[in-house]
Amino acid sequence: MNRHDQERAIMVEIQSAIEREGGRDEKLSAVCGIVQERIPRCDWVGFYLVDVESPDELILGPFVGEATEHVRIPLGKGICGQAAKRGETIVVPDVSKANSYLSCSARVRSEIVIPIFVGKKIVGELDIDSHTADAFSEESRKLLERICRVVSALFD
Ligand code: SME
Repeated sequence: MNRHDQERAIMVEIQSAIEREGGRDEKLSAVCGIVQERIPRCDWVGFYLVDVESPDELILGPFVGEATEHVRIPLGKGICGQAAKRGETIVVPDVSKANSYLSCSARVRSEIVIPIFVGKKIVGELDIDSHTADAFSEESRKLLERICRVVSALFD
């Protein structure tokens, strides 16, 4: 399979995870599993959601990988909080050089955070940590942004 076919197959899996029976958290968990299994070098995959009661904070949602102490992140703090505040994807090729980075595990070398929008409003984000340095290419960023556009249907 070439890259386009692989990406198409991943998008089909994501779409069916979104359409399966169950609540939003189950669907988000299923998406985490697909991303971790099907996209190389994704060691920790999770969602942070904007707290509807306290919209200047993110709360940890479904994830796969090691447990993290960062269950609440204020907007502007860490890579996650910065991506949410700016409303744009942040790719960190080397976490040891990042500003205001919140470490979840000493094994993490690189990270990507992709905001999820409903219209222009940010509702959450997909956060991925990798044990490989510079794990996220331009192609993987585009694919993950596509996934987040599909996932945003769960927040309408
Ligand atoms: N590294 C993130 C914190 C979340 S953990 O990676 C799971 C950050 O700097 O915001």
